[in-house]
Amino acid sequence: MKDASPQTIHLADYQPYPFRVARVELTFRLSPRATRVLSRIAFAANPDRPGRHDLFLHGERLRLLSARIDGTPVPAAALVVTDEGLTVAAHALPEGPFLWEAEVEIDPEGNTALEGLYMSGGMYCTQCEAEGFRKITYYPDRPDVMAPFRVRIESDLPVMLSNGNPVGAGAGWAEWDDPWPKPAYLFALVAGNLVNLPDRFTTRSGRKVDLNIWVRPGDLDRCAFAMDSLIRSMKWDEDTYGREYDLDVFNIVAVDDFNMGAMENKGLNIFNSKLVLASPETATDLDFERIEGVIAHEYFHNWTGNRITCRDWFQLCLKEGLTVFRDQQFTSDMRSGPVKRIEDVLTLRARQFREDMGPLAHPPRPSSFVEINNFYTATVYEKGAEVIGMLKRLVGDDGYARALDLYFDRHDGDAATIEDWLKVFEDATGRDLSQFRRWYTDAGTPRLSVAEDWAPGDQGGTFTLTFTQSTPPTPGQEVKPPRVIPIAVGLLNPNGDEVVPTTVLEMTEATQSFRFDGLASRPVASILRGFSAPVVLERSVPAAEHAFLLAHDTDPFNRWEAGRALAKDTLVRMVAEDAPASPDYIAALGRLLADDALDPAFRALCLRLPAEDDLAQTLADTGRTPDPDRIHAAREDLARAVAQALERPLAATFEAMADGGPFSPDAAAAGRRSLRVAALALLNHLDGGARAADLFDGATNMTERAAALACLIEAGRAAEALAAFHDRWRNNRLVIDKWFTLQVVHAAPAHAAGVAGQLAAHADFDWRNPNRARALLGGLAANHAGFHDASGAAYRFYADWLLRLDPVNPQIAARLSTAFETWARYDADRRALVRAELERIRATPDLSRDLSEMTARILG
Ligand code: ARG
Ligand code: ZN
Repeated sequence: MKDASPQTIHLADYQPYPFRVARVELTFRLSPRATRVLSRIAFAANPDRPGRHDLFLHGERLRLLSARIDGTPVPAAALVVTDEGLTVAAHALPEGPFLWEAEVEIDPEGNTALEGLYMSGGMYCTQCEAEGFRKITYYPDRPDVMAPFRVRIESDLPVMLSNGNPVGAGAGWAEWDDPWPKPAYLFALVAGNLVNLPDRFTTRSGRKVDLNIWVRPGDLDRCAFAMDSLIRSMKWDEDTYGREYDLDVFNIVAVDDFNMGAMENKGLNIFNSKLVLASPETATDLDFERIEGVIAHEYFHNWTGNRITCRDWFQLCLKEGLTVFRDQQFTSDMRSGPVKRIEDVLTLRARQFREDMGPLAHPPRPSSFVEINNFYTATVYEKGAEVIGMLKRLVGDDGYARALDLYFDRHDGDAATIEDWLKVFEDATGRDLSQFRRWYTDAGTPRLSVAEDWAPGDQGGTFTLTFTQSTPPTPGQEVKPPRVIPIAVGLLNPNGDEVVPTTVLEMTEATQSFRFDGLASRPVASILRGFSAPVVLERSVPAAEHAFLLAHDTDPFNRWEAGRALAKDTLVRMVAEDAPASPDYIAALGRLLADDALDPAFRALCLRLPAEDDLAQTLADTGRTPDPDRIHAAREDLARAVAQALERPLAATFEAMADGGPFSPDAAAAGRRSLRVAALALLNHLDGGARAADLFDGATNMTERAAALACLIEAGRAAEALAAFHDRWRNNRLVIDKWFTLQVVHAAPAHAAGVAGQLAAHADFDWRNPNRARALLGGLAANHAGFHDASGAAYRFYADWLLRLDPVNPQIAARLSTAFETWARYDADRRALVRAELERIRATPDLSRDLSEMTARILG
């Protein structure tokens, strides 16, 4: 049954659970439509909640067959069962510790929401974070209740896995024991006809760990890169954070039906297969990079998330922000630091700034929610990581290292809070972080403006930077006090030499000045180097200064940022004033392209024009109403102008970056390919798809083949290529996902909804598979001008699908609904169209808690 009036949960209402769990024993008798789960749970009073309390256990969609306490059936009069769980009256509970035993029946096959125990491609698997364990058995399903688990699985399937170490197996059964106390959200079970890629890792103290990646039989040849990533992650966490693995086995399982990317279940990580399986022919370089990053992310959770977990779900960024921060550090160490930083800032602005500027804005640590699954957001993850980056900048590398050691020492085995986390930094460094805490509790992206002053003098001149910060209101938070902002600044003299190396200024006031004395001449300031804080820098700088920084800045991030500013300036003027493409920007790009001393991956990032949604965001943010058609046209015009002016160097780059030897997924080779396809995308505006057609036929890797296919679609000559591509990859779900996405993302705006409609009718549109639904619908939302086509056709199509998905998989419907979060930016006609769709969704009976919370918040 659906919730009639969903409850809002408040951080301020937190209370410890009245009981402790000493031990959990579970037996699973697997059967697709009727799995039996037997539980034996040892409870004792929790001294942190004195007094006598009812026993409340979460439970949803469970058929309760029996319930006993200390061997005696619980009397019906003492037991109340609702849609959300069961309660045993306090008077029916023994005074001391007691044993709860229950048997329930569940239906994995009928579980289309993919939360709890479900089936994917014939195998059993689980997803319990955040609140899925309550769909498996009755239990206090909250992260502050931690216990060791022992699990017995009975079935005739060849492979049966759970958390911890294997302790026994025989014909039709297997037993697992996890000695580390854990919350229920880290529980996992997998059973199926699986095959494995095995390997071995010896930890630095000599523990031998068996590693396995488990997949369906045909997928074994695409696991090697994931295994290599795992081994590098394990080594890196020892070298960088001193963290060792703590069990005898580490298992990873790839499943095709998965709501998110992956899950860090103790000793048994479960992954969306797209984040495990890769070969040069089937995966792009971006796929390889994501696989490496997510394998690392889930592995790193073993310490930041599992050994130290969250007290409650409001603290989600405690584990996610920190683990994202750690996986970002890992990727910069494995690849290129500057390139990784630019990529991360691109994502942050595209997803988190977008969220922060709209109706879904919330702090990294929210103070209330209706459905926690709606808070696995860019703000909790990516901004949560940025906040840690700032903390590290403020306390320095040594301070950070001391604080992290203290965190692991002090809180190992705890369910901790953001306050605990900040206290560790205060104790390790002696700093007062009360103002810094606002980064966790306040929503919104601060605006930072800056004024410069130059005063020449006999002993050298004085350069003064005066910063002013302010944060616009967000839902439920009108007034935002100033935050502490680390502003990394460097100064260059007019020859381009650095006269003041990177210095971190600590801004704490609403307005604050910083002086640099003894300068021979007026410097050029490079501000917010490395994107030292997640803020919007509002600064009108003459184009010549951006061009100067693009040519000379010693900070690679700001060098890229200067080029970005030039590109955005010219695009904004093309949209708003019908201005022609800036020749200065194009000339600067030309110089950069020709600079062979620069990393190809960096040059590729510079060649990539700002996305249409990014421009719409910038226009809206500066008080203008974005016109999606004009934005699309301007971006196309700029691409064509760049291609015309730089045709020869682009063509030369395209040739020079061709792969020589055998494929390697490493950063250097991937960087060359990314520059090659960036050049191709621009040249495509001139050659009508000629180069793309050749490349499509000759490509030996998916990066080039998919890029060529995108170009052919844009050039309107992809029919044959699309058929050939489908034909070749019809049995590879992950590649067919790309086939769907490319066609919608690159469709001409006026046709995007029509193309999406045709694809939705295709026999391969298995919309119950989250990857496939996202491939099509996410692709449509990513086609900015197509999604916002004035006809409203895409809005309607999209809303229809949200309504169709919602009863089947509410998490996916709710997640996809964020495509509408920017609706208030646009003109009155488009706003009316979106509003009508959102109202239609809202008025639908039996909407899930997930989607109804989202539509209500988006409507505002
Ligand atoms: N903890 C997982 C990760 O970040 C994500 C799980 C999200 N699950 C969910 N139902 N929202 O690695
Ligand atoms: Zn995570």
